[in-house]
Amino acid sequence: MDALKFNKIAAAVLSGILLIMIFGKIGNILVNPNTDVSNAYPIEVPETNLTKAKEVTEVIIEPITALLAAANVESGLKVAKKCVACHGFEAGGPNKVGPNLYDIVNKEQGKADYAYSKVLASLDGKWTYEELNKFLYKPKLYSKGTKMNYAGLSKVKDRANLIAWLRTKSDNPAPLP
Ligand code: HEC
Repeated sequence: MDALKFNKIAAAVLSGILLIMIFGKIGNILVNPNTDVSNAYPIEVPETNLTKAKEVTEVIIEPITALLAAANVESGLKVAKKCVACHGFEAGGPNKVGPNLYDIVNKEQGKADYAYSKVLASLDGKWTYEELNKFLYKPKLYSKGTKMNYAGLSKVKDRANLIAWLRTKSDNPAPLP
């Protein structure tokens, strides 16, 4: 390659680079990349999304009040078999893994002589029929951090029958709603 040819090629490459730089500058002047364009066209994204919608539908728990009068106490006793590993139901019976549940309907929440978790101890309502219903649907949803290690009863009939049976475990059963 002679020197002249080399110079021509070098000149072509250099002017190419120069042109790119010049066009770049012109482009920048026209569009100005330093302007903050992130808010130029604000797009409102609604807060709700699918996950949140799911959480909302999950906490809609079918009430049992209407089912209690016709509930089947015998079936409730069968459902209670799922509780006996951790709970006693007889008057004056000892606590097991969980507190004794004799006379639990309308009893103060988390106030028996038992070492409750913080979340249960901090409840200050009563175990009405519907509170028991919500708790037993999914204990960990009702009281996040509870040490009752039980998934819950998803079938509303099971909950109604069980709670109707729990009601009978009392000297003086609470009136039916
Ligand atoms: C694996 C053991 C376990 C099983 C199974 C279980 N529980 Fe519990 N339960 C516990 C424990 C532990 C607590 C105390 C929870 C806390 O302090 O967070 C508790 C608390 C409760 C309470 C609150 C009592 C109070 O004095 O406030 C009720 C009501 C209850 N359980 C009902 C039931 C019923 C009904 C079943 C059966 C469907 C059941 N549990 C199954 C362990 C269990």
